[in-house]
Amino acid sequence: MRGIILAGGSGTRLRPLTDVHSKQLLPVYDKPMIYYPLSVLMQAGITEVLVISSPEHLGSYRALLGDGERLGISIAYAVQRRPGGIAEALVIGAPFTDGRDVCLILGDNIFHGHRLPDLLRAEAARLDGCTLFGHRVGDPERYGVATVDGSGRILTLVEKPTAPDSDLAVTGLYMYDADASRRAAELAPSDRGELEITDLNLTYVREHRARLVTLERGSAWFDTGTHDSLLEAAVFVQALEKRQGIRISCLEEVAYRMGYIDRERLALLGKELSPSSGYGRYVMELAGA
Ligand code: TTP
Repeated sequence: MRGIILAGGSGTRLRPLTDVHSKQLLPVYDKPMIYYPLSVLMQAGITEVLVISSPEHLGSYRALLGDGERLGISIAYAVQRRPGGIAEALVIGAPFTDGRDVCLILGDNIFHGHRLPDLLRAEAARLDGCTLFGHRVGDPERYGVATVDGSGRILTLVEKPTAPDSDLAVTGLYMYDADASRRAAELAPSDRGELEITDLNLTYVREHRARLVTLERGSAWFDTGTHDSLLEAAVFVQALEKRQGIRISCLEEVAYRMGYIDRERLALLGKELSPSSGYGRYVMELAGA
């Protein structure tokens, strides 16, 4: 399975923060936002990743992450000329996925849960059609909302319903079979001229080939699209890291623990990061350097 991180969009709700910066490069406490979704893919065992962003920002992602080699993975890049919808990521990514299953994650979604990596690996192995990941929320009318049968098969899926049938919101993490790019390319654009992800998902729902996996209680999900949610995510990460004495979504650590790089490489990466940075010291300590 290959991975796509969609990191474009307009970021209008975060203006003026996003007037010159790409949203998914903004800091979430101690690291750029895109580290969080990238670490989710890496922990799921995905080592070939495509980052999609706008023409004006793609170069910054390339400067930050490079070709992935230093992390023992491969990162490619593609442009989304204008915000043409989340499902357009699968059209843009078609040459990259090249007939393989794909895990799409939004660059502004932050997930944290101890069992998430195992869950993603298990779901990737049993994928048939599409698998969405749901989280219970208090304000479902702001999201795509699903109802499911006892086995997790999606019965209904409605985008921003005025009267939601459940509190299960669809998060920005999706797994698709190899047919998704073709389906996305055949979607009719919505009124706002976008290829809507819910329309793509509905093609699978209609065939009874869409599953929703509910993320466990105790797991966290943040969509960092507003000033408050961006700060809430940062405070969550800070509290977790301080309380537990660890860093979450530290790409160098994930690469090491997943076996993508060895201890020598980890030490090198730690040295490259300034020792005056707590993040840098953490990486060096992990490597025993
Ligand atoms: P949204 O939060 O729906 O949109 P946005 O990021 O443009 O922000 P705003 O509503 O404040 O204007 O997008 C969800 C994620 O998907 C976000 O990470 C941006 C990304 N995205 C794209 O990269 N391209 C797109 O065409 C769309 C619609 C979203």
